[in-house]
Amino acid sequence: MQAEGSVLLVDDDVAVGQVLAALVHQAGLEAHVVTSAKDALKVLSARPVDVVVTDLQMPEMDGMQLLEAIGAKWPEVRVLMITAHGTIALAVEAMKKGAADFMLKPFDREEVVFTIKKAIKAAKHSEESPTSAVGNLGGFVGASEAMKQIYALIAKVAAGLATVLIRGETGTGKELAARAIHAQSPRKSGPFIKVQLASLPDTLLESELFGYEKGAFTGAATRKPGRVELAQAGTLFLDEIGDVSPAMQVKLLRLLQEREFERLGGTQTLKADVRFVAATHRDLENMVAKGEFREDLFYRLNVVPVKLPPLRERSEDIEPLARHFGATLGPANGKPAMDLDAAAAQLLRSAPWPGNVRQLQNFVERLVVLSNGPTITAADVQRELPTHPGLSEPIGPSGSGETATLDAKRRDVEREAITAALRQARDNRTLAARLLGVSRRTLYNKLDELGLLEA
Ligand SMILES: Nc1ncnc2c1ncn2[C@@H]1O[C@H](COP(=O)(O)OP(=O)(O)OP(=O)(O)O)[C@@H](O)[C@H]1O
Ligand SMILES: [Mg+2]
Repeated sequence: MQAEGSVLLVDDDVAVGQVLAALVHQAGLEAHVVTSAKDALKVLSARPVDVVVTDLQMPEMDGMQLLEAIGAKWPEVRVLMITAHGTIALAVEAMKKGAADFMLKPFDREEVVFTIKKAIKAAKHSEESPTSAVGNLGGFVGASEAMKQIYALIAKVAAGLATVLIRGETGTGKELAARAIHAQSPRKSGPFIKVQLASLPDTLLESELFGYEKGAFTGAATRKPGRVELAQAGTLFLDEIGDVSPAMQVKLLRLLQEREFERLGGTQTLKADVRFVAATHRDLENMVAKGEFREDLFYRLNVVPVKLPPLRERSEDIEPLARHFGATLGPANGKPAMDLDAAAAQLLRSAPWPGNVRQLQNFVERLVVLSNGPTITAADVQRELPTHPGLSEPIGPSGSGETATLDAKRRDVEREAITAALRQARDNRTLAARLLGVSRRTLYNKLDELGLLEA
């Protein structure tokens, strides 16, 4: 069988690596197994890899560090995290840092293969069109009042050259908005270039942004243009701008203010003919107050603020979005387009979606792939809700110990989800209850039952 993609499996437990390799082989994919992050980096340097599947907890360099190293050097490689029940919160953290998805231990074969294949497809897709356009409508679905205001604002700002700062929680569509601004602007026939500012160390980020001259440093064998240069006559999307170091903030300030830059090791000053769009999920005002983000840079960026509302504040968008994803992700996964029945839609509407549209999209894709009929039912939704963090009162898909009673397993998983939600909500119980999709009263009862009330 012709391998359709190559997967690098990283786990310090040899047996786990072998089990996964067998599954990957059966799925017609190429697998390499290594037992440390260091060896994984060696393989990545030596041959092309589409997807890395890594354990989180490993001695020396752990999965999180490996994720960061891969993001810095091979941003096109998708990283999936292997997670035991005790580390779901960490996995969510990893996804915020750029991991594509995570897989729960003990493994569900179908789930593992599905998750890996999906990541491979995403990796191949982004190879073909690194800045794949979203069309003139911007690809937005949803007609809530809040989003209508966003569409109007996007249309208005697209025409000008002013810098746009897009804010909003993770998965609310910040990148989609940035691409829509470009697609509707007079620069639409120019390039849309994205720079992922988080997770790149400063030295790399500088050469990535500004490029370098031949001989600027060891290994600089030829001149290489940076992203600013590549974005000439187009739009430069500065993603995760809240994550740059103070030193980089100074360099970005100059770029935005003077619209000038030099390649590393170069003496010639170049003009940046680009439109800047920046995005962040961070509270920049608060960072400015704490001295973590330069005030002058903040004002340079915040010329036109666009704030995307979280999905829970526009729950009328959930159903049309879910239908849209059912209709498009079916065919994308070699299945017919799928619809949902009224009860399924109702259940989706009442879930809290802490990961916003991206989480809804992932969720519907899972349903599409795992369901049989042409329609997604409430039972399908109910079965899958517990596998997504923060979506429901979780009943673990598969517990840890063989002999534990169902009740004990339920308590373990609930404790896990509740502590994760509390951490995410910085111990704000009202917010945590909302993340978990339960009432405050229910949360208190659970905390009491689990002996966490005084914690
Ligand atoms: N209104 C929408 N209609 C259709 N698809 C959407 C909408 N909003 C977001 N999406 C889709 O959801 C996914 C996440 O969106 P996007 O990457 O723009 O979010 P983001 O705000 O940049 O998230 P993060 O902060 O995690 O980077 C993408 O696949 C995007 O196409
Ligand atoms: Mg984004």
